Amino acid sequence: MLKAVLLASLAIGASAIPTASNYVEREYNANLDVRISVASGLLKAPTDGRVVLMFAPNGTDPLEDTDVTSSPNKIYGKNVYGFGNKNTIVFSGGSNASTETGVFGWPNVSLSDIDPGTYSVQAFLTKYETVTRSDGSKVSVHFPCGDGAPNVNAFGSLVTTATDVEISGGAQTLELTFNNITAIEPSTGKEIGGCNQGNYEDTDTVKYVKIRSKKLSKFWGRDMYVGANVVLPSGYDANDKKTRYPVIYNQGHWPGSAGAYNYGTDKAFTSAWDSGLIPATNTTAARPAPKFLLITFRHESPFYDDSYAVNTANLGPYGDAINDELLPYLEATFHTIRAPYARVQDGGSTGGWESIANLIYRPDLFGVCFSSYPDSLDFHRHQDIELYTAANAYQRADGSSVPSIRTHVNGTQVIEASVALENHWELTFGTASRSANQWDVWNAVFGVQGYNNYPLEPWDKVTGEIYHEAVEYWKPFDLSDYVVSNFNNGSRNLGAALAGRIFVYVGTWDNYFLNEGVMEFQKRTDAAGGAGWANVTILPEKPHGGNYQSREIWDYLELVESWVKDHAPSGPNPLSASAVAPSTRGNIWDDVIKTGGRKAAVKRQADPKIDMKSAKVGQEVSASVGRWDPGVKLTAQWILNSKPASEPYAVKQGDTVEYAPTAKGHVQLLVTGEKRNYVTETRKSGRVLVGR
Ligand SMILES: *[C@@H]1O[C@H](CO)[C@@H](O)[C@H](O)[C@H]1NC(C)=O
Ligand SMILES: *[C@@H]1O[C@H](CO)[C@@H](O)[C@H](O)[C@H]1NC(C)=O
Ligand SMILES: *[C@@H]1O[C@H](CO)[C@@H](O)[C@H](O)[C@H]1NC(C)=O
Ligand SMILES: *[C@@H]1O[C@H](CO)[C@@H](O)[C@H](O)[C@H]1NC(C)=O
Ligand SMILES: *[C@@H]1O[C@H](CO)[C@@H](O)[C@H](O)[C@H]1NC(C)=O
Ligand SMILES: *[C@@H]1O[C@H](CO)[C@@H](O)[C@H](O)[C@H]1NC(C)=O
Ligand SMILES: *[C@@H]1O[C@H](CO)[C@@H](O)[C@H](O)[C@H]1NC(C)=O
Ligand SMILES: *[C@@H]1O[C@H](CO)[C@@H](O)[C@H](O)[C@H]1NC(C)=O
Repeated sequence: MLKAVLLASLAIGASAIPTASNYVEREYNANLDVRISVASGLLKAPTDGRVVLMFAPNGTDPLEDTDVTSSPNKIYGKNVYGFGNKNTIVFSGGSNASTETGVFGWPNVSLSDIDPGTYSVQAFLTKYETVTRSDGSKVSVHFPCGDGAPNVNAFGSLVTTATDVEISGGAQTLELTFNNITAIEPSTGKEIGGCNQGNYEDTDTVKYVKIRSKKLSKFWGRDMYVGANVVLPSGYDANDKKTRYPVIYNQGHWPGSAGAYNYGTDKAFTSAWDSGLIPATNTTAARPAPKFLLITFRHESPFYDDSYAVNTANLGPYGDAINDELLPYLEATFHTIRAPYARVQDGGSTGGWESIANLIYRPDLFGVCFSSYPDSLDFHRHQDIELYTAANAYQRADGSSVPSIRTHVNGTQVIEASVALENHWELTFGTASRSANQWDVWNAVFGVQGYNNYPLEPWDKVTGEIYHEAVEYWKPFDLSDYVVSNFNNGSRNLGAALAGRIFVYVGTWDNYFLNEGVMEFQKRTDAAGGAGWANVTILPEKPHGGNYQSREIWDYLELVESWVKDHAPSGPNPLSASAVAPSTRGNIWDDVIKTGGRKAAVKRQADPKIDMKSAKVGQEVSASVGRWDPGVKLTAQWILNSKPASEPYAVKQGDTVEYAPTAKGHVQLLVTGEKRNYVTETRKSGRVLVGR
């Protein structure tokens, strides 16, 4: 209210002011500075990192609700470089323009948009570590420490005390001090490698495993670990080497100490599993529970609470670390059946994608997947974005905004967040895809490395402008494109190999529109292999969640058990040798890093080039502007005899530019490229002689 009154009085007689909203953004709290220093002794050495500053309703804990759909907070982020004991970080204003060096906020970009009032204010510093990866790329990222990489207040963060502060609306300076560090879970000493992937004490039925991954450590140039939580079936006897069990590899988010299907936290499931007896219901008698090892993974990564469990250019060889290092270790430690038919992949959402991807890329290792409401299986619909054809990820051609999160209330769809809102919210927690949130990790997993060493983003995080050349590099992770491209040509022969092994379900009311990608996957694989090639079930009016086909857990586990029995060597439908042949394998690390790593990023670049060996005064010289990463905005300038011969002017990638030299000597083209999170760079063509 107050803001509107103020605006009205200021606007009187000021007709030249472009728009009311611009005016408010500039004038309000323009002089609010938040200055943050660090208590002596808290920071051992200068650090790079991300500072997140939150203004929450007075008297509340700023961390109480930071969710994009419901947070009442104003959240601001700023990167710090070489922050040490003697420095002060200043938050002031905020803009879309320089998100790497300046302040960027949500839901309002600038601190100037904070209404006067009393707020609970707190700041957090997530520390980054700079590493040079084995492909030569150098990045500063946060390595999580046994907490599943939350987007703010991660273990080891510097924090200020939350303080209630009155924001006046006029000139004001707030002083905050980082005076504490977010606790790190103590090591139990039972597992190697400190806090990375956590440390847990074994129980009778849950065994915690952690190994140092040679492959990941080599890639990241530091020690990296992957872990597993292994739930044993009732009657499992470590001394009985003859009795062997099939395994369900249950994929999903960071499990902490919990086992698959919330074993350990879901009392009813845990006690039934331990007893080996499915409890009686009103209509069914008690019966023996199926026996599996239930294994879930701990693979928190520098980009998210997990790695998506595949080999990717930005996260490294996580697929190999899990499948070729950790899995053999598990099979050597526990009494498992070591054959594809007895290795099951399942999971929902992130775990839904991970489970189907692991089967599709590794038919030689796993037998089947039961994937529930998986992340985008086909990028014709990335959630609800038509990624291959749309111009903008946030706005449709008709001007409406692309929704990201929805719910249904009494059968009516209610949009809870748009793709724009969610991406802007993410951007407060980290730039260059480092927010440890959903859209950013997709960029890291599906994308190649940019020339700036960070994920080559598919669109501008602020404006939503899609870069189709960047999206092209996502194709190997578009699972329906991958399956169809390898269906019945080449050596993988996935059409025959994977028939009868893929089970997917999703509800038409999926909260993240993931039904769209599943339907595209079904359409394309049906076209290649005939209707039902993959067993896809679309359940009407079901939201995100539930075990496969929303079955009761025991019904589901019995379904899995029957598939395993059916496909065992002694069963009626054993997997054929060709269906599990090594030649079916995909997502090969060497290929992934070769096409997506540093060398490929460098190879994509080229300097501007004048097409001629020599030129003549008054005659057009033409030149290419060079090759740049998608999204780099270019400015060209001609140089004649070392002096500017024209004003700099905007050019587009792929353009040919022309100039007629006005004097003898030599001519040269300079092109400057600018992009969010990229160092602004000027590239020069060779000089070409100008004669008469
Ligand atoms: C802010 O909250 C505190 C309690 O944390 C309360 O004492 C104070 O009165 C509140 N101030 C305003 C202006 O609401
Ligand atoms: C700040 O964001 C809120 C929520 O999106 C919006 O309603 C409000 O108009 C914005 N304020 C300014 C000054 O832009
Ligand atoms: C500092 O952080 C620790 C661990 O998070 C917490 O237990 C303690 O209360 C904090 N101390 C202060 C003064 O806020
Ligand atoms: C099953 O029996 C219990 C106790 O007799 C009863 O409360 C419950 O409503 C019954 N459930 C169903 C699905 O019939
Ligand atoms: C949904 O339906 C119930 C029962 O008819 C009603 O009480 C409730 O108000 C409805 N909710 C909304 C948001 O319309
Ligand atoms: C920032 O960019 C967004 C998206 O393009 C736009 O809606 C908003 O008005 C811009 N805000 C400022 C302060 O420039
Ligand atoms: C297989 O076919 C697809 C689609 O026709 C094509 O894009 C791909 O290059 C082919 N692969 C091989 C190995 O021939
Ligand atoms: C798909 O799988 C479900 C569960 O196994 C099964 O009930 C259904 O018959 C299958 N559909 C087809 C077409 O095979």
